[in-house]
Amino acid sequence: MSSEIRTIGVLTSGGDAPGMNAAIRAVAREAMYHKVKVKGIKRGYRGLLNEEIFDMRSVDVSNIIQRGGTVLGTARCTEFKEEEVQQKAAEICRKHGIDGIVVIGGDGSYRGAQALARHGINTIGLPGTIDLDIACTDYTIGFDTAINTAMDAIDKVKDTSSSHERCSIIEVMGRHAGYIALWCGIANGAEDILLPEKYDYDEQKIVDHMVLNRRLGKKHHLIINAEGIGHSTSMARRIEAATGIETRATILGYMQRGGSPTCTDRYYASIMGAYAADILVAGKSNRVICYKDGKFVDYDIEEALSMTKSIPEYVYNVSQRI
Ligand code: ADP
Ligand code: F6P
Repeated sequence: MSSEIRTIGVLTSGGDAPGMNAAIRAVAREAMYHKVKVKGIKRGYRGLLNEEIFDMRSVDVSNIIQRGGTVLGTARCTEFKEEEVQQKAAEICRKHGIDGIVVIGGDGSYRGAQALARHGINTIGLPGTIDLDIACTDYTIGFDTAINTAMDAIDKVKDTSSSHERCSIIEVMGRHAGYIALWCGIANGAEDILLPEKYDYDEQKIVDHMVLNRRLGKKHHLIINAEGIGHSTSMARRIEAATGIETRATILGYMQRGGSPTCTDRYYASIMGAYAADILVAGKSNRVICYKDGKFVDYDIEEALSMTKSIPEYVYNVSQRI
């Protein structure tokens, strides 16, 4: 254990994700195991600037592992991009005796963590987002819960859709990334899967596909549309007019982001949270914890942010064929 790290802080930033509480708990408990004090910071970087900082005891993270959302609260704080605001945040950390911070969030939150590291506060990032759109890691906290929540909801819509012999367009979250749509599209047996990374805006292809399936005796036609494409309601109207098949749009929205985390999310978030505390206590800074090729690893934040990832080509092609 490095003698320099006596107190660490933990905050959640950006969109909440199920499993964030498991991560907070693991950060706190692992740091306490190392005899390091823990401070909870409420409402992300905004709460840090407002000094919403409290001493965290072991009991404060009891009975939270199964809860959705984040007990610390989260916020967006645009002014954190400003140099003098970052400087002020680092001074607030020093004032409260905080030597290091674990930031649970997405790419944007890592930029904030990087800024704090530049101003002398050790920082470690944890990937918290339901979108799976963080390039350096194969797993993000909340994705597994989100896809399972969406999958259950889509199954239900599919039942009513089949009963009425309708087409259903179901819009799932993912403003910039189609991972939720891809996984659910495959898992729910969708007829069409529309991803922002791949969609060619050729609605005629969808119309032809619907008409063919109807001719072959299919009672439903399920289209999973990612939020990044959007416009599900108007798409439903156009498709209904072109095919004569009743078509309804359902936008799942925030229900995908809430709820009790799955076992997978609790497990990964716990190990990653502990890993973050371990390396912070060991004196590392400006790192992000990832799960890559079957292993928990950490990368420099700049290196992590320069990585890219894309929809796996083979998986996408299979999704279109089956
Ligand atoms: P996410 O972390 O999920 O990607 P955002 O992009 O909204 O979500 O970022 C969350 C917060 O991180 C922002 O509200 C802001 O406080 C901080 N942040 C984002 N980008 C930067 C940046 N370039 N520099 C410093 N802080 C940033
Ligand atoms: O958490 C990720 C995400 O759900 C995206 O899919 C979506 O675009 C975004 O958050 C919306 O978040 P908010 O409505 O909080 O800005």
